[in-house]
Amino acid sequence: MDRGVKKISLLHLGIGNVGKEVVAQIQAQKDEIVKQFGLDLVYCGLFTVRNGVFAPDGLSEEKIRNDLSEARYAPVDIEKMVLHAIDEMETPFILIDTTASDSTFPFLEKTLKKGGYVVLSNKKPLAGSLKQFENLQRLGKNRIYCETVVGAGLPVIQTLKNLLITGDEISEIQGCFSGTLGYLFSQLDTGKKFSEVVMQAKKLGYTEPDPRDDLGGVDVARKALILSRFLGQKKELSDIALTGLYPKEMGMLSVDEFMSEIKKLDDEYAEKVKNAKTQGKVLRFVATVTQTDCRVGLEAVEKTSDIGSLQGPDNIIIFKTKRYFDNPLVIKGPGAGLAVTAAGVFADILSSAQIITGGIHE
Ligand SMILES: NC(=O)c1ccc[n+]([C@@H]2O[C@H](COP(=O)([O-])OP(=O)(O)OC[C@H]3O[C@@H](n4cnc5c(N)ncnc54)[C@H](OP(=O)(O)O)[C@@H]3O)[C@@H](O)[C@H]2O)c1
Repeated sequence: MDRGVKKISLLHLGIGNVGKEVVAQIQAQKDEIVKQFGLDLVYCGLFTVRNGVFAPDGLSEEKIRNDLSEARYAPVDIEKMVLHAIDEMETPFILIDTTASDSTFPFLEKTLKKGGYVVLSNKKPLAGSLKQFENLQRLGKNRIYCETVVGAGLPVIQTLKNLLITGDEISEIQGCFSGTLGYLFSQLDTGKKFSEVVMQAKKLGYTEPDPRDDLGGVDVARKALILSRFLGQKKELSDIALTGLYPKEMGMLSVDEFMSEIKKLDDEYAEKVKNAKTQGKVLRFVATVTQTDCRVGLEAVEKTSDIGSLQGPDNIIIFKTKRYFDNPLVIKGPGAGLAVTAAGVFADILSSAQIITGGIHE
C-alpha cells in the first residue's frame, strides 16, 4: 500500500437498515477515499444483537458482505465480544453505533477512554441520563460525532456547534423533528380524519409498528433534549414538557385495540384543525428549546410561517440567534431515510478520520 495512505479501523454496532446502508456506501467509495484523502477505512468488526464478526487486522470482503442476521453464525455473547474488540484495537479507531439500543453506553465509554472516536446515529446514549451524557462529554467531547441524531442527514448538530464555537448567542431553536408527525399533520390540513391519517401512515410503513411510539412524541423529546444539552441545559428526559397526541389511558391498550379506539379522537382533532384554520393557522408538532426551556407538543402556527408551510415528512430546524435574529437560520429537508442518514453517518466517519490523521493528503 502507498506509504501516504493511513489505515483507520472501524468497529460497527447495529447492522440493521441504516447500518447496512452505511457499510454499502463505505465499501462503494473505499477506493475513492484512498485516492482523495489517503484514508483506508478498514472494517474490523460488525455486530448485531446476537452475532458478530471481528478480525483486528481487517475483515475479508466476504465477511463484510455476509448478512449477520442470517442464522449462519452461532449466537455469541455480544457484549463480551465488543468489549474484547475494543481492547484489541490499536488507537485511534472509530466505533460506529447505528443500533436503536439504550445499552451501548459501556462500549462508547470504553472507546473514548482508550482514545478512540465514536460516530452515532443512535440518539439513546446522548438522551439517556444526564450523568451518562456528561460522562461521554468529559471523556471525549470532540471525539463524538452525532450529526444524524437530529434531522438525519441535515446539518443540524454541526451548525449548532459552529454557532456556539464562533461566539453566537442562541436564543431559540425551534422545529419539527418527526417526519411521521409532519406527514400526519399536513394530511390533516387537507380535511382528512385523524384516525384515517394514522391508519394510512401505519399502512405505508411511516409509523413504528405501534403508532403510539410516534404519537407519544418521545422520539422528538429525545432530539430536543440532546439539543438542550448541547446548549448547556442540565435536563433529564422527564424534565421535558411533553404533550403527546393521545390520552394516557389509551397507552394501556393493545395495538389493535388502540387502532380501533383511535376514531374516538377524530372529533377533537377536527375541532382543533377548524379552530386553527379560522385564525389562518395549521397544527404542527413543534419542539422549542431556549436557554432555559425545552418543550414539545402540538401547536397552532401561522400557515404562512416556515413551520406552517412545512409539507409531508420533511423536517425543519430554525435557529434564532444574536447574529440570525431578524432573519433566522433555517434548515429544511428530509429528516429520515436510509440513504441520507447513512450518508450523514459516513460523513461523520470521514470527518473523524481526517481529524485522526491530521487531514492533510498530498
Ligand atoms: N431510519 C432512519 O431514517 C434514521 C434516521 C436517523 C437516525 N436513525 C437511528 O439510527 C438507528 C438505527 O436505525 P435502523 O432503522 O437501522 O434500526 P434497525 O433496523 O432496528 O437496526 C438496529 C440494529 O442494531 C442492532 N442492535 C440492537 N442492539 C444492539 C446492541 N446492543 N449491540 C449491537 N447491535 C445491536 C440490531 O440487531 P438485530 O438485527 O440482531 O436485532 C439491528 O441490527 C436508530 O437509533 C435510529 O433511531 C434512523
